[in-house]
Amino acid sequence: MSSDFIAAKAKMPYLGVGLGLRRELADEIFASSASIDWLEIVPENYMDLGGHAKSRLEKAKSLFPIVTHGVNLSVGSSDPLNKDYLSTLVGLLDFIEAPWWTDHLCFTSIDGFYLHDLLPLPLSAETVKHVIARAREAQALVGRPLLLENISYYMHMPESHLQEADFIWQILEGADCGLLLDVNNVYVNSINLNFDPYKFIDDLPLERVVQMHVAGHSRRGDLLIDTHGADVIEPVFDLLAYALKHTDCKAVLLERDQNYPESFETVIAELDKIRQIVLASQPGVLPAALSKSA
Ligand SMILES: [Fe+2]
Repeated sequence: MSSDFIAAKAKMPYLGVGLGLRRELADEIFASSASIDWLEIVPENYMDLGGHAKSRLEKAKSLFPIVTHGVNLSVGSSDPLNKDYLSTLVGLLDFIEAPWWTDHLCFTSIDGFYLHDLLPLPLSAETVKHVIARAREAQALVGRPLLLENISYYMHMPESHLQEADFIWQILEGADCGLLLDVNNVYVNSINLNFDPYKFIDDLPLERVVQMHVAGHSRRGDLLIDTHGADVIEPVFDLLAYALKHTDCKAVLLERDQNYPESFETVIAELDKIRQIVLASQPGVLPAALSKSA
């Protein structure tokens, strides 16, 4: 079956190794543009472009390619799609000239009220059908390729009858959109829910992977919590290397969203480690013009 998304993917740029733009890190990120290839922004933070947010975004745009990573698409919700949100997002994507946009395979709103959590969906045929229709509509309204991210979660929702990888596969094929593969989320879920993370990756629609996330997590008792507030551990780097060898990935990003290290050099060192893994596993992610500190 022909796929508009796969045809579009062939023309997407390779962005290299990037970092999430956080207000607290912005000055150091801008001063380190030689070591960071691209930035990811949370679009909800830039939809009311006044004052500092506007100047931060303009500065970021002058130095880096930028992609959005949203939380309010709420693709699995039973609420109507928020068309005001999507139309504001279109303006932002136009401004930053984003090659694609991303959000999460989850729901974040109930009765129009936005929660501040990424909530898992029932892994069912009914959900698959529901999400396919909404993801198709959202992608058409926005007019740029959409990537959905596999989330971390701590329990299965009732009425879950499908394997998660199959659930993701059916939705991405049915909606004809892409995958933002978060290898830390795969690792955290594999420990908490007791499955083989390598087999999980094997079972995903890997030709639809455009971007990957790498992050750190924390441990509370027997549970791993996806905090984005700690150093990345070796098993997650190993999963990154494995996934890169099995995909034509366009961009890799380090998520560090809290508990920032005392020295920004620690973040740069982690980016450099990711760059070395990319070089060894899928060097095409790093086109020559972007191979900043490799
Ligand atoms: Fe992520």
